Amino acid sequence: MKLSIRTFTRHTGCLAAACVLGLLGAQGALAQDVQSRIIRFGFGNPDSSPSGQGVKHFAELVEKKSGGKMKVRLFGGAVLGADMAMQTALTAGTQEMMVGSTATLVGMVKEFGILDLPFVFQTPEEAYAVVDGPIGQKLTAKLPDVGLIGIAFWDNGFRNLTNSKRAVAKLEDMNGIKLRVMQNPVYLEFFKELGANPVPMPWSEVFTALETRAVDGHENPASTIDTAKIYEVQKYLSLTRHAYAAHLVMASKKWWDTLSKDEQRIITEAVVETRPFQRKLNNEADSKSIAALKDKGMTVTTIPPAELQRMSDKVRPVVDKFAADFDASLAKEMFNQVAAMRQKK
Ligand code: MLT
Repeated sequence: MKLSIRTFTRHTGCLAAACVLGLLGAQGALAQDVQSRIIRFGFGNPDSSPSGQGVKHFAELVEKKSGGKMKVRLFGGAVLGADMAMQTALTAGTQEMMVGSTATLVGMVKEFGILDLPFVFQTPEEAYAVVDGPIGQKLTAKLPDVGLIGIAFWDNGFRNLTNSKRAVAKLEDMNGIKLRVMQNPVYLEFFKELGANPVPMPWSEVFTALETRAVDGHENPASTIDTAKIYEVQKYLSLTRHAYAAHLVMASKKWWDTLSKDEQRIITEAVVETRPFQRKLNNEADSKSIAALKDKGMTVTTIPPAELQRMSDKVRPVVDKFAADFDASLAKEMFNQVAAMRQKK
């Protein structure tokens, strides 16, 4: 069967460059051309996290598809460095692959920041439709210029606030909380707008900063709060779901360009085939983690919708400013896509 690139993209949901490779493979146009290779794959979360388990699943698929020739070595818990250090290593070609938050990519490709705008997504499906569709493809198409290949988006999830000071149940409760945020201007500005005192910091330093009370709080999806044992150093969890964070699987372009088309196809297929597995795991972990975190002693506060709306209204000027700075038309496309999905419900 001959597949057009557009048909293949629609069926597999893979990103543009990756789809061309998948198409070649799907048509059997190439002979298997696979070398023995070791792929160093880094990530910031522990091996037990949904992304860690995703990488393990990916590694098994790659090994199987390459007849045992391509092996993936897992480096979890930021042992190869925090996200930005790994991005630099990928660019330099000293590390082959990573999965990490897109929020730290804004220094290299500012347009990724549209995904960080607060209170845009309400459900995982809204976020998946955006990152797996044309918007995600337009964003990842910018990565080769900075030495990276974006293969497919996995899930990090909806972010919630933790702190050691007080139960945050309303906007005013955030006042003065010294809060670690990702190294991303949107998070910095919107938490300032909400009254907190945000401090940008790499993820690899967060546990110690919370433990030593260098900062009062931080924010992350519940599954991360659980697998990173943040409950050991934080008392209060507030279910703010203020932003959705995607995880993007990336490869070093320098390294990618040395691979045969078959090898690129094997990796691409394995990342894309792992995506539903990783997202399912992450979604299940998200709801289970909230109950687990209660059991582990955290006070969990649900924020009423009206209060979340107040927070969202308060940060609206930040959303407007950054949407215009990053890419006004892409941001509009994202808002319209989400609005259209809600209308269909
Ligand atoms: C962070 O807070 O830096 C990230 O959410 C960590 C991650 O990528 O899981």
